[in-house]
Amino acid sequence: LKFGMSQYQDFWCPPNLVANVIRFQQHFQAQDHDIILASHPKSGTIWLKALLYSIINRHRYTSSNTPLLNSNPHQLIPFFEFTLYSSDTKPPNNSISYDPSPRLFSTHIPYASMADSIKHSSKCKIVYISRNPLDVLVSFWHFASWQPERIEEWTMEEYVEKFCNGETVFGPFWNHVLGYWKESLEKPEKVLFLKYEEMKEDFVVQVKKLADFVGFPFSREEESQGVIEQISNLCSFSNLKDLDVNKHGKLMSNGLENKSYFRKGKVGDWVNHLSPSMAARLNTVMKEKFRGSGLTFERSSC
Ligand code: A3P
Repeated sequence: LKFGMSQYQDFWCPPNLVANVIRFQQHFQAQDHDIILASHPKSGTIWLKALLYSIINRHRYTSSNTPLLNSNPHQLIPFFEFTLYSSDTKPPNNSISYDPSPRLFSTHIPYASMADSIKHSSKCKIVYISRNPLDVLVSFWHFASWQPERIEEWTMEEYVEKFCNGETVFGPFWNHVLGYWKESLEKPEKVLFLKYEEMKEDFVVQVKKLADFVGFPFSREEESQGVIEQISNLCSFSNLKDLDVNKHGKLMSNGLENKSYFRKGKVGDWVNHLSPSMAARLNTVMKEKFRGSGLTFERSSC
């Protein structure tokens, strides 16, 4: 146990989640059509949840009757590790209907610690959303102030040090990202690696890639009818943030306020929070950790 986290396998896990992670590893049975969204915290998980949900359910719901208007995306796509399994360890039992398939799940668990049935015995697909580490760090630092049982308060400078030491929830950051990155290179049909910055920069291209990958490609007719733009608007930061459900209320799974997941939604906000020396320190460490991987991050110099 260190900085309030338990070290489990190769990652830092909130102590109250370790038992759930173990149950998930031992019992989760992936199905071929399952889609799993994986991410390091604060990389844009909630945005991708809204997008995946909208892409997959677009023939069932329109922008005016989608459950997204009344539910925080975390309620629609549960995290394995936050969802308690029953004693006979059935998959998460919640209010979501998985009819029709596919089932959608999400997780912050690193690739190396994923359940075997996900990695080896099923054809399920994994979508990974990554984000440049400087923005992840700044986003997390702000998010930490929402935690109901916050153990310590860190200055930004202290938090930069912790990040560089790999002490982040579900981190080290580089292990997390590289685990999925390498798998996406080796098995591109299994893991799709997306970048937050590219989603912002070139939304249509990226969202088409996502829809193709999960087996719900947009038809020409849909494109000409503006379906992609509708999904983009529905899932935009400003739209989601302003929904009543996201302004008020808390998540059952972790007691956090829905609004804590919507801060700025910008690329490069780190310049407003990190001094040049903090940014330089982070860039040096990240360059070293990601050297030779072929992975670079936009809008930072690492
Ligand atoms: P910031 O703190 O930089 O604003 P996660 O969902 O993985 O916890 O990531 C949260 C980050 O994604 C926050 O970043 C949040 O504001 C941003 N975000 C939330 N909804 C978004 C959306 N619809 N589009 C883009 N970014 C979004």
